[in-house]
Amino acid sequence: MIANKKLVLGITGGIAAYKAAELVRLLIKSNVDVQVVMTEAACQFITPITMQALSGKPVFIGMWDTKVGNGMPHIELSREADAILIAPASADFLAKLTHGRADDLLSTLCLARDCPLLVAPAMNKQMWENPATQRNITQLTADGVTILGPDSGEQACGEVGLGRMLEAEDLLDGLISHFTPKSLTGKRILITAGATLEMIDPVRAITNLSSGKMGYALAKIAVDMGATVTLISGATAISPLSNVTNISATSADAMYQSVMKNVAAQHIFISVAAVADYTPVDSLTQKIKKTDYSADKPFSLNLKKTKDILADVASLPNAPFCVGFAAESENVIEYASQKRIAKKLPLIVANEAISALGNNDNQVTLIDDNGTHNFPRAHKTEVARLILRHIATLL
Ligand code: CTP
Repeated sequence: MIANKKLVLGITGGIAAYKAAELVRLLIKSNVDVQVVMTEAACQFITPITMQALSGKPVFIGMWDTKVGNGMPHIELSREADAILIAPASADFLAKLTHGRADDLLSTLCLARDCPLLVAPAMNKQMWENPATQRNITQLTADGVTILGPDSGEQACGEVGLGRMLEAEDLLDGLISHFTPKSLTGKRILITAGATLEMIDPVRAITNLSSGKMGYALAKIAVDMGATVTLISGATAISPLSNVTNISATSADAMYQSVMKNVAAQHIFISVAAVADYTPVDSLTQKIKKTDYSADKPFSLNLKKTKDILADVASLPNAPFCVGFAAESENVIEYASQKRIAKKLPLIVANEAISALGNNDNQVTLIDDNGTHNFPRAHKTEVARLILRHIATLL
């Protein structure tokens, strides 16, 4: 998505400048062509040598730099760029941008740009909350500048509040999101994710190895692609996602109720959750004691079948476009195709259960009316992108 993009990374004066070093490392790893431009103040916090070593290119600082052939780096650098990201963007630099000032190389090339501008504010919380800064942010947003963050938390000055610059990974996510084509704009997508927990007693449950990574990746990428996303999550260690309606439903029954409550206005339903097929007939309110059982009196658990959420949604009169997942340990394509037909789904994602559940990467085959589509093993974020792109072509 961002590979081979040309990015000008502007660094202004602030403690958070150290995070720009990690950001450059991540960008280079993602094959982004990074040109670093620093203000004089930024050089007080991190050295141009560090940024040059990480980006593999000399850093621009002054207006009168002769490194560019035509002697006009402010024009040359912005013309070549697909985007400019200022990280960290100090309160002073945001004020400059708002007023179109151009008194150093970075502010001049921002004014001379014909590409998108993204800024990652970083400052003390009082500076951030100051009406002047808030006015500037409102104006910059109206001018089409993308504001990434800031985050809340402990600040370099010891105060706690809004104003911390986003972490390098979050800024990379912001850039990826910026460059993602918005092919799902206007679509509402309901996604289930994670494992269900079927309680046996207050502390024990029947569950499975699903981590939620695939469903959460789909939710995140769907947002990047412009969709409005509701994520109904079973048990997972993953934190709720931003820009998503997060709903927790840990049992198969709770997930069923939650899906049925939220499905009406959806265009797409992607059922990624590993929903238990069976649940205890009785969930005990007190812990089962092992002393209650013996060789003569063996413990047994009565299970009943759960409702099939996906099959029921797919058979609704105004069913959304339904996508199922089939995690199989053998005959993957055959079993997945059978599930697609049985549940009347336009699309099913087949994957090998043992290598998919809980892992960071996955290899999937998509099965639809046109046949099978094999995708290479990749990180679940990338797999999510491929699946959603495929869905967008089928709508
Ligand atoms: N699913 C569901 N509700 C259930 C069970 C499964 O919505 N009670 C969904 C899953 O989210 C997934 C698909 O159905 O999208 C999986 O189909 P299924 O035939 O239920 O798979 P398994 O549960 O793996 O079935 P089996 O154990 O028989 O292979």
